[in-house]
Order: sequence, then structure tokens, then C-alpha cells
Amino acid sequence: MSVAAVNDTKHWLRGGAGGPLLLVALVVVAVAFLFFYYLYPGLHRGYGDKIPFARAIFGGALEQPIPFSHRLHATDKEIACQYCHPYTERSMNAGLPTIGKCLGCHDHIIPEHEEILKLKVYREAGATLPWKRVYYNPDHVFFPHYRHIAKGVQCTECHGEIEQVDRLRQATFYMGMCINCHRRKNAPITCVACHQ
Ligand code: HEC
Ligand code: HEC
Ligand code: HEC
Ligand code: HEC
Ligand code: HEC
Repeated sequence: MSVAAVNDTKHWLRGGAGGPLLLVALVVVAVAFLFFYYLYPGLHRGYGDKIPFARAIFGGALEQPIPFSHRLHATDKEIACQYCHPYTERSMNAGLPTIGKCLGCHDHIIPEHEEILKLKVYREAGATLPWKRVYYNPDHVFFPHYRHIAKGVQCTECHGEIEQVDRLRQATFYMGMCINCHRRKNAPITCVACHQ
């Protein structure tokens, strides 16, 4: 950058003619972005068509019994989604890993880590991990995972880039998101397909 250009920038920042305008424009863009990306689908419950990932980032944090990281396990350690969620291909539900599955690795990997010791306490008590649900549909919605996996729909198309985040946050699916894709892919859009 030339000296003249630098001086120019400083002049701008100090509030030359374009300064305040630029600031106002930035604020307007930021507010509009937040509104459409995050608030708008919530205000129009039932019609939003965003994948709920926006909420999984900005929504309320979920306190899980063990702070589990998808980024670490799925991306860094390259463990396949279906290794831990084994039923997506054949069942309505994806399923969550049992304590036995976690400890299959963690009896050998970092076995003395504070969080792993907690896992062992659950195992000794014969308890299951009380994971809080992250993504859910209300009871009146019928959702078969296996029908989607059979047609090659990817996890990310509905859940977002889960493998990039350390902690998931509460998220809700909107009907518009389901219907948009069903239209695109010629899947059923009659009401009874999803509300039985
Ligand atoms: C592809 C799946 C799908 C189809 C087809 C579908 N819905 Fe839905 N519907 C959903 C899901 C998912 C929800 C829950 C999320 C939400 O409320 O947006 C829902 C929620 C609703 C709700 C509750 C909204 C609320 O605010 O609680 C009503 C009412 C509804 N659907 C009516 C219909 C009618 C009428 C049709 C047919 C014209 C229809 N749906 C077709 C998936 C579907
Ligand atoms: C296929 C093997 C495997 C499975 C299954 C597995 N993990 Fe891990 N986990 C790892 C590896 C590898 C690391 C990284 C260890 C290191 O840092 O050296 C790790 C790290 C961790 C850590 C430490 C992370 C941190 O931030 O320090 C926790 C906590 C953890 N895992 C919990 C779990 C839980 C809970 C489950 C079951 C839901 C699970 N793991 C299942 C392989 C596994
Ligand atoms: C090592 C095991 C492991 C692997 C690999 C793994 N997950 Fe998970 N997953 C979990 C555990 C444990 C939870 C519950 C804790 C949480 O919500 O963070 C979970 C939660 C989820 C949830 C939310 C469940 C709910 O309550 O609604 C989704 C969606 C999900 N995983 C998708 C994926 C996808 C997609 C991949 C691959 C990119 C993947 N997972 C890889 C262990 C795993
Ligand atoms: C077409 C959209 C879609 C795709 C593709 C999809 N899911 Fe889901 N997933 C959902 C919906 C909707 C729910 C909530 C279901 C409910 O509440 O009944 C859900 C729930 C889950 C849960 C919560 C626990 C459970 O047993 O339901 C996990 C874990 C999960 N999905 C993992 C995955 C993984 C892993 C993949 C890829 C192999 C995947 N999903 C692909 C839409 C999808
Ligand atoms: C990314 C695209 C996509 C999204 C998002 C999606 N679906 Fe689907 N859905 C499909 C495809 C593709 C099929 C397979 C149709 C087939 O088997 O011919 C399907 C099939 C279904 C079926 C079986 C319909 C039947 O009777 O044959 C149901 C039920 C369903 N989806 C519900 C949902 C619900 C509820 C949601 C939202 C929570 C949703 N889907 C989101 C692509 C999607």
C-alpha cells in the first residue's frame, strides 16, 4: 500500500465524508443478516427452510453429561458417523453410542482422563448416559432416517457441518426445510407422508 493510500484510509476512519455512511451500512447489513439467518425462521415457525445449523451455533448451549466433541472424533480422528450412530440405514432413529462403545476405545485411549473416569462411574452403576436431545421433531411428525440414507441424502444436508463443532446446541427442524428438499428431489409432499 502506498503512503498516500494509508493516509487516505486514516482520513476515512477519522470520519471523512464516507466514514459514518460506511458504519451505518455495516450495522444495517449485520442486523439484516442476524434477522434473516436466525430470527426470521423462528418468527415463522413451520415455514422456515434453513437447516437448523444456524440454531445449533447461536442457540442455547446444552450442558451434556460428558463434553463430547464431534470435531475431535469425526474430523481429527476420522471416526465414521455410522460407527457411533449405527441405525441410520435400517431404522427410524439414528441411535446414540452406548457407554460400552465409548469405552471400547477409552479403556485404552486416555483411560485416566477426568471425563473418561466419569464414563467408568456410569458403567459401574449400570446406567446409560443421560444425553440431552439436540435435534428433534414433535411427536406428530413421522421421520424415517433409513428412507433418506437409502436415497443417498447426506447427514450434513439436514444436520449441518456437525463434524466441525465441539459442542452441539439445541435445534429444531422446520417443515419448510423438509418440504423444500422433497420438492427438489421428487419425494412425497402430501401432508400424510409426514403427519400420520
Ligand atoms: C416432508 C415432511 C412434511 C410434509 C409433507 C408436511 N409437513 Fe407439516 N410439519 C413437518 C415438520 C417437520 C413439522 C415440525 C416442525 C415445524 O413445526 O415446522 C411440521 C409441522 C406442522 C404443523 C405444526 C406447526 C406448528 O407451528 O407447530 C402443522 C399444522 C403442519 N405441519 C401441517 C401440515 C400440512 C397441512 C401439510 C400438507 C399440506 C404438511 N404439514 C406437510 C413436516 C412435514
Ligand atoms: C474409535 C475410538 C473412539 C471412540 C469410540 C470414542 N473415542 Fe473419545 N477419543 C478418541 C481419541 C483417539 C481421542 C483423542 C485422545 C488424545 O487426545 O490423545 C478421544 C478423546 C476423547 C475425550 C477427550 C477430549 C478432550 O477434549 O480432551 C473425551 C472426553 C472423549 N474422547 C469422550 C468420548 C465419549 C463420551 C465417547 C462415546 C460417546 C467416545 N469418546 C468414543 C477415540 C474414541
Ligand atoms: C465417537 C462417536 C461419535 C461419532 C464418530 C459421531 N457422533 Fe454424533 N453423537 C455422538 C454422541 C455421544 C452424541 C450425543 C452428545 C451430543 O449431543 O453432543 C452425538 C450426537 C449427535 C447428533 C445429535 C443427536 C440429537 O440428540 O439430536 C447428531 C445429529 C449427530 N451426532 C450426528 C453425527 C454425524 C453427522 C457424525 C459424522 C460426521 C457423527 N455424529 C459422528 C457420538 C458420535
Ligand atoms: C433428511 C434429513 C436427515 C438426514 C439426511 C439425517 N438426519 Fe439425523 N435426524 C433428522 C431428524 C429430522 C431428526 C429428529 C428425529 C426425531 O425427532 O424423531 C434426526 C435425529 C438424529 C439423531 C438423534 C438421535 C436419534 O436416534 O434419532 C442422530 C444421532 C442423527 N439424527 C444422526 C444422523 C446421522 C449420523 C446421519 C447420516 C448418516 C443423519 N442423521 C442423517 C434428519 C436427518
Ligand atoms: C435433503 C433432502 C431432504 C430433506 C431435508 C428431507 N427429506 Fe424426507 N425424503 C427425501 C428423499 C430423497 C426421500 C426418499 C423418497 C423415496 O424413497 O422415493 C424422502 C422420504 C421421506 C419420507 C418417506 C415418504 C414416503 O412415504 O415414501 C418421509 C416420511 C420423509 N422423507 C420425511 C421427512 C421429514 C419429516 C423431513 C424434515 C424433518 C425430511 N423428510 C427432510 C429427502 C429429504
